[in-house]
Amino acid sequence: MARILITSAIPYINGIKHLGNLVGSQLPADLYARYQRSRGHEVLFLCATDEHGTPAELAAAKAGQPVDEFCAQMHAVQKEIAEGFRLSFDHFGRSSSARNRALTQHFAGRLADNGLIEEVSERQVFSIDDNRFLPDRYITGTCPNCGYTQARGDQCENCTKQLDPTDLIDPRSAISGSTRLEVRETKHLFLRQRALRDRLEAWIDSKTDWPVLTTSIAKKWLYDGDGLQDRGITRDLHWGVPVMRGDRPWPGMEGKVFYVWFDAPIEYIACAAEWADAHGYADSAWERWWRTDKGAEDVRYVQFMGKDNVPFHTLSFPATIMGSGEPWKLVDYIKSFNYLNYDGGQFSTSQGRGVFMDQALQVLPADYWRWWLLSHAPENSDAEFTWENFQASVNKDLADVLGNFVSRVTKFAATKLGDTVPGGGAPGPLETALIADLGARVREYEALMEAMEVRKAAAELRGIWVIGNEYLQAAAPWSAIKTDPARAEAIVRLALNLIRVYAILSQPFIPDAAQAMLAAMGSPDAQWPDHIGSALTALPPGHAFTVPENLFRKITDEERADWQTRFAGVRT
Ligand code: MF3
Ligand code: ZN
Repeated sequence: MARILITSAIPYINGIKHLGNLVGSQLPADLYARYQRSRGHEVLFLCATDEHGTPAELAAAKAGQPVDEFCAQMHAVQKEIAEGFRLSFDHFGRSSSARNRALTQHFAGRLADNGLIEEVSERQVFSIDDNRFLPDRYITGTCPNCGYTQARGDQCENCTKQLDPTDLIDPRSAISGSTRLEVRETKHLFLRQRALRDRLEAWIDSKTDWPVLTTSIAKKWLYDGDGLQDRGITRDLHWGVPVMRGDRPWPGMEGKVFYVWFDAPIEYIACAAEWADAHGYADSAWERWWRTDKGAEDVRYVQFMGKDNVPFHTLSFPATIMGSGEPWKLVDYIKSFNYLNYDGGQFSTSQGRGVFMDQALQVLPADYWRWWLLSHAPENSDAEFTWENFQASVNKDLADVLGNFVSRVTKFAATKLGDTVPGGGAPGPLETALIADLGARVREYEALMEAMEVRKAAAELRGIWVIGNEYLQAAAPWSAIKTDPARAEAIVRLALNLIRVYAILSQPFIPDAAQAMLAAMGSPDAQWPDHIGSALTALPPGHAFTVPENLFRKITDEERADWQTRFAGVRT
């Protein structure tokens, strides 16, 4: 039994995520976690909300709520939706937790002790009436280029010109509208990533098995332009982890917080501690996942994320870990994803374009979405969601192939042979061929799941369902029962066992349907089919089963057209 630590990129708190976000990190991470658990491994699967930074402050202000209340509420909302999608996190933490605060301050202190922090003075806009420094996009004014009066301090939306806040004519605070602004000196901490460059390069070079998408992005940031830059890790904001040097104050840094991208990945560690706290475990329980001096040297750590997150996970966070000089676990494998587009354009949180996680669950149960998203995961290139494709996949793969197999077998068995597994007959050549084919396919499916080849694994699983239908067609128990009832019994016995095996194999993709199939087969035992021949005799003659409710319904053309219009516009 191996020990596998799995983290998904932690979603921002500022709103409900869309399906593109889901398929880029949380969902494939869940697939992998479920698979590894079902293979009998010890898994710790963690995710959390990413709660700090400007977007959280802005979203709270827009909702008219204090930012801590807003975050608590949105965390609960995201947690519930994650449960709706059956994301099987061992813990869903919060980057604003006391654990993360302490760990973030601890890492900053260690980095400073090791000479890896530099203090840099900068000039920034301060709003006297708001009593705070304003980040560029908190400042609006008139564009010097086109005269647009709502230009932001970083860019004019009207003519797209990149701006500095000091370029704006009549600048004012986007928070209060106040024009009493002045430029003040402010001090910030920089992480000296360049000093760690050689170690980072050697480490990335040693990861020869990583996906090309991951290493190509990492290397681009290592070598392009001026190469790896030192990075500001503090901000003049109120909301965030207060800047401290370990548990000591940091002179000159009073009132400042760490940059959200500094504390967010540290939440991967803090989340393990939150998990232990939630269960009343001692620190040793989470440290054995994270400290190589406390048992984590034999942990395999796998991270899942969208491609925009790769630089932070291949360079910045490893720089924090390495620079600490402490024996924290470094990631072993990074699975990254391209983008999912929506119906001819992009998903957009700010414009509300596409299907969001809460809306998806209002329309159809989780399995439908999980199946489409995973079987179309944007692995080798960007992928696109269209309602036509969604309808076609659901209707064919889930309803016609898997659902139909289960319902044909159970209905035929129950009406013709009674409500227990029949005992007559013996396996013949068709059964021997099916078992050989299935055995080879299951080994291939295992290899693909192990390699996190998500799309290919889905295709293999579908192929496994298909051969069940082909077998049924060839064996034709509805004919056999008229001439050779014992033969029909042997076919049905195998087919009922096949349903149980399908449930176990399919569970990582479609957990609810798998559960319903296992329940109908009266089988609490979900042992992985290591040996396919014996797995197909797990339900013995006389074992009771039931006919499950229809597992999947088809999506009609009217529904498809209706949803297409409903989600074309802007979410309000
Ligand atoms: N919140 C970020 C995003 O959605 C991801 C943070 S991942 C972590 O893009 F490593 F910082 F935790
Ligand atoms: Zn302009």
